[in-house]
Amino acid sequence: MNKDKERKIVIGSDHAAFDLKEKVKKFVLELNYKINDIGTFTKESINYVDFGKKVAQAVSKKEYPMGILLCGTGIGMSITANRFSGVRAALCSDIFSVKMSRKHNDSNILVLGGRVVGDILAFELIKVWLETPFDGGRHLKRIMKIDDSIKVFSQG
Ligand code: RB5
Repeated sequence: MNKDKERKIVIGSDHAAFDLKEKVKKFVLELNYKINDIGTFTKESINYVDFGKKVAQAVSKKEYPMGILLCGTGIGMSITANRFSGVRAALCSDIFSVKMSRKHNDSNILVLGGRVVGDILAFELIKVWLETPFDGGRHLKRIMKIDDSIKVFSQG
């Protein structure tokens, strides 16, 4: 597990991935992580953006070192989350990508599509994601450039 990081995770989903979120919460708790569920709390149709923003803000402000976001495809959540400074959200549905998202990209939000991956694959992806450390080195310089670019672009 990531010994260098606090073992707490913020999680959010929309209605399309509500069932998966409930199962993922249990799974992550069993791995001895604390988890803060920011919703949604029912299957009533809502906007993924609102929940994606909450998780991304918590990670961007460093209130949580890592977050998990779930929606139907994961696409809306990943687009939303990656608007936030310091957030590196990785939408993954295979083990190689999830591992590399940690090793090379230091992903701090894992995004899964509840209509794309089944429960077992989701659990496997999360476990690998939590267990894989960032390689650092040349990859650190690269991820630092991402936020440099955000600052330059936002200054116009
Ligand atoms: C909801 O129907 C769906 O659009 C949402 O879960 C997600 O897939 C958006 O990217």
